[in-house]
Amino acid sequence: MLWPLTTVRDATGRLTIGGIALADLADEFGTPLYVYHDETIRNQCALYREAFQTAYPGARVAYAGKAYLSSELLAIIADEGLGLDVVSAGELMMAYRSGFPLERVVLHGNNKTPEELRLALELGVGEIIVDNFYELDLLDELTRELGRSVDVLLRVNPNIDVHTHDYRKTAIVDSKFGLLIEPGFARQAVERILEIPGLRLRGYHAHIGSQIFEIEPFLTSISTLFAFAADMYERYDVKPAQISPGGGFGIQYQKSDPEVELGTFAAQVSDAMRKGAEEYDLAPPQLTIEPGRTIVGQAGVALYRVGAIKDIPGVRRYVSVDGGMADNIRPALYGAKYEAEIANRDSVERATVTIAGKFCESGDVLVRDVALVPPEPGDLVAIPAAGAYCLAMASNYNLALKPAVVMISGGSARLIQRRETYDDLLAREVGTVARSTN
Ligand code: LLP
Repeated sequence: MLWPLTTVRDATGRLTIGGIALADLADEFGTPLYVYHDETIRNQCALYREAFQTAYPGARVAYAGKAYLSSELLAIIADEGLGLDVVSAGELMMAYRSGFPLERVVLHGNNKTPEELRLALELGVGEIIVDNFYELDLLDELTRELGRSVDVLLRVNPNIDVHTHDYRKTAIVDSKFGLLIEPGFARQAVERILEIPGLRLRGYHAHIGSQIFEIEPFLTSISTLFAFAADMYERYDVKPAQISPGGGFGIQYQKSDPEVELGTFAAQVSDAMRKGAEEYDLAPPQLTIEPGRTIVGQAGVALYRVGAIKDIPGVRRYVSVDGGMADNIRPALYGAKYEAEIANRDSVERATVTIAGKFCESGDVLVRDVALVPPEPGDLVAIPAAGAYCLAMASNYNLALKPAVVMISGGSARLIQRRETYDDLLAREVGTVARSTN
């Protein structure tokens, strides 16, 4: 599904979520505005929890916070019983300061800094997913110095190509992530982990990419992890307590995109886990999965106000909005395609237009050739499936202020992240700031 649950047009044609008109939110909080729907997020959490725990008892679901993080979202994730995958000290600090249970946090990253690893050890994260030998040297030093120990998984590169944008492939040979099984890098890392007294090797992780609709590559990844785990058992007598095939399941951005049926996916992944354990005569390890996009993607809508409209006869009609690539880089970065609707009114009339952002790049186009109620300046454009990797990758390009974020919950809306201010923009200046703003 493209839109948050309960999204409908009201009697006057305005788009509403949980009974709240997006147009009213735009008037109250300004635009660009990101609107999330609590019940849609919780519904996704519950679907994952139930599908995986039914198919494979004891399975853990860790939300990949890189898709979008805020303290209010973390409260939902914690309440729904999910864990959290963080990939930087910044994300870890957000989790810590928001009171997220740190034993449910796992730390990822292909170049964790000494400071990040130290913070993770000091705060007591549940697990560190080790990516490389440099990191192992750092962990050796730091665990000794701090007198701490920690559970680790090794990130293996299972060498699997997937159908997604090249920038979203993470497990081909030519990848910066994880360690290849051939020619023995992953095995050498296991040897090294076993030498470090402060590390407890819990098992193996792979993440093959993102926005993937096929189930097969995940199953191949699991069987590759099991073959590797069995080899490590034979060589070093170390049994895998955990196997993690990562995240990366696709969502619908357009109606033409497929919808992955979670129950089927969970059942097939679980079967592959059981098969792997049986084949190598291992006790079934715990399963961890790390969905990001599928937890928050559908729950978020981006809301923009229409400004300048330019007709280039016979070519196209540019409808410019007050946001763009600074709050959603995905169309410019991956050629990502979105749908859109006029949110403040409806009509049977439609015009094919191109929605452009306001930033100084020709590539700042949010949606090309979309059939909309013919937009006028002042109308509101709503883009669905904007909950993941939009705000998370937002920038201050052209010194844009990052948008405000509103959460609709139980039929009412509240601000969960205020819009950036000019003071925020200037807060890091160490030079003279002659005039106070806001
Ligand atoms: N686990 C690991 C180790 C990851 O690297 C990622 C995503 C995930 C889990 C969650 O993947 P998801 O379920 O959200 O697909 N910016 C890109 C996506 C980059 C994903 C990076 N890693 C986009 O906008 O499509």
